[in-house]
Amino acid sequence: MAGAAGSKAREGWSSRTAFILAAVGSAVGLGNMWRFPAEAGANGGGAFVLFYIFCVLLIGLPVLLSEVLIGRHGQSSAPESVRRVARDSNASTGWGILGSLGVFAAFLILSFYCVVGGWVLYYIGVFVSDLFQTGLSGGAFEGRDVDEIKALLPDLFGNGGLMVGLNLGFLALTLFFVARGISSGIEWVAVYLMPLFFVLFLAITIYGAFTGDFSQAVSYLFTFDASKLTGKVMLAAVGQAFFSLSLGVAGMMTYGAYASRETNLGKTSGIIAGADTAVALLAGLAIFPIVFAAGLAANSGPGLMFESLPIAFQAMPVGSLIGLLFFTMVFFAALTSSVSLLEAPTAYMIEKFNLARPVATITVGLGAAVLGVLSALSFNELAEFRPLGFIPIFAEANFFDALDGVTAKLFMPIGAILTCIFVGWIADARLIDDENGIDGLLHQIWRALVRFVCPLVLSVILIYGIFG
Ligand code: TRP
Repeated sequence: MAGAAGSKAREGWSSRTAFILAAVGSAVGLGNMWRFPAEAGANGGGAFVLFYIFCVLLIGLPVLLSEVLIGRHGQSSAPESVRRVARDSNASTGWGILGSLGVFAAFLILSFYCVVGGWVLYYIGVFVSDLFQTGLSGGAFEGRDVDEIKALLPDLFGNGGLMVGLNLGFLALTLFFVARGISSGIEWVAVYLMPLFFVLFLAITIYGAFTGDFSQAVSYLFTFDASKLTGKVMLAAVGQAFFSLSLGVAGMMTYGAYASRETNLGKTSGIIAGADTAVALLAGLAIFPIVFAAGLAANSGPGLMFESLPIAFQAMPVGSLIGLLFFTMVFFAALTSSVSLLEAPTAYMIEKFNLARPVATITVGLGAAVLGVLSALSFNELAEFRPLGFIPIFAEANFFDALDGVTAKLFMPIGAILTCIFVGWIADARLIDDENGIDGLLHQIWRALVRFVCPLVLSVILIYGIFG
């Protein structure tokens, strides 16, 4: 029944739909709402966005299928799943390094992801207190001008103690859910809250389309200017595609292991990529009209979402309540992602050191707390610290930016290249055929993408992005 004979019984998802929702839950998170708009703004808009969509279709989707396929066949943590596929293909188990690198990178991402999760907690607090002050009449932040709303995030950044506290708070919530285990902890959030989130987000976007500078946003996001497509922009777009789809660093391998034999992985991958990209574009269309209407700078950095949307909530009827609902949903979207980031190293620790789940969770959590504190302090106390000052593309990066940059621009593309080589050239083709759930022309195309197109295109972008 299980992918590999003799694998120990694993907890699975309670149904096929629950697996899809959980994988969508992993993909849809701060990457879509916080990172996508910020990266699009930092990289000039249209060229980045269109190249991003190209990357999702031509690279992200084939790699996504490759990862869940390895996971389902291996039925284990990412490194062990890779080893099992290797063993069943008579190849070297040294390929397990692909999974180990990913697990390590997922741990690094978890540490700074929880810092941004802390900002979400902060805004929930802001809207709760606003709701108490102004009640349900009118918009949010009554009597405050736009500059005061814009200043909320910089004010938070300046408060090192609060930043650390919120970061640890978000991490603790993530630990709680992962410690409880896959089906009881993670599933209900994915099953009940993700669909609700879609609806609310769509409503906010439509509202924004009528009140903000929608046409400027559309032309900013979708006008292709080839001269803007530099190596740096391409690498940023690939990195964002991987980050958003939870790829290249063991995330989807880990989740694939919880999918049942009945799940069609080809179709599921399409659903995951489609939903994820839809939310990212929705976020762009919700945020940029406000950015332009309120005269914010599109390249103002990681705060774009947090600075722009509250301005819209001020103008909306029952704005405090909508703001509160929105950030609560963002919180749950972020949680279903941080949970998957923590699950990758946790599953590995459980298997490797034979630990009980709660013990493994807390061990990983302590490590993430240490790195997280350094990230939280990069916005204040440690603002001048440049850990990778010796590497030109990371010369300006503080600790937070360095972790974000190294994982998205090095670990993920390299992990994806190795995954493609492994699935396309090393693993037994019959084993792969048996798992992937696609056939005919689609199968041929996927195979060609994984074997030739993805590794080549990724290598070129990686080199060009770093040295070009
Ligand atoms: N994809 C998530 C987001 O967009 C982040 C994430 C969750 C992730 N799990 C991952 C990124 C694993 C890389 C690897 O917010």
